[in-house]
Amino acid sequence: MTKITVNGNEIDVAEISEETPLLWVLRDHLGLTGTKYGCGVSECGACTVHVDGDPVQSCVTTLSEVEGSDITTIEGLSDDGSHPVQKAWKEHSVPQCGYCQAGQIMMAAALLESNKDPSDDEIDSHMWNICRCGTYNRIREAIKDAAKEVDQ
Ligand code: FES
Ligand code: FES
Repeated sequence: MTKITVNGNEIDVAEISEETPLLWVLRDHLGLTGTKYGCGVSECGACTVHVDGDPVQSCVTTLSEVEGSDITTIEGLSDDGSHPVQKAWKEHSVPQCGYCQAGQIMMAAALLESNKDPSDDEIDSHMWNICRCGTYNRIREAIKDAAKEVDQ
């Protein structure tokens, strides 16, 4: 294992142990601190990133598991906050403390990649991320608005 691609940049990771969780590769080695640590056991979703387009919990994904993969973090979702999900999040003032929100946004963006018009039930079953501030209703409304733009 020598390289991964993160936000479009090929990165040499040969000096990092293959068993290092992707979360710590991103945060500690690459300085991409938008991805957060919450539980460390795949139960909160705060650490969600995309691996080859799929939402993945980076706290329980080792570097060896993402060899050759294309990884997108919140920093790479768009250059300027213009992704439909990011715009809808601002429009609906979704974040409160903000800690869970990078993971929420990455999970929502992945949902709309696979389902451009999700129902309330589909949103609820896909968006299992925990928000201690209780922003769930705003998240649901923001996803519906983002879906309108994605669907155009
Ligand atoms: S920190 Fe990864 S799911 Fe909670
Ligand atoms: S906005 Fe505070 S935990 Fe979700």
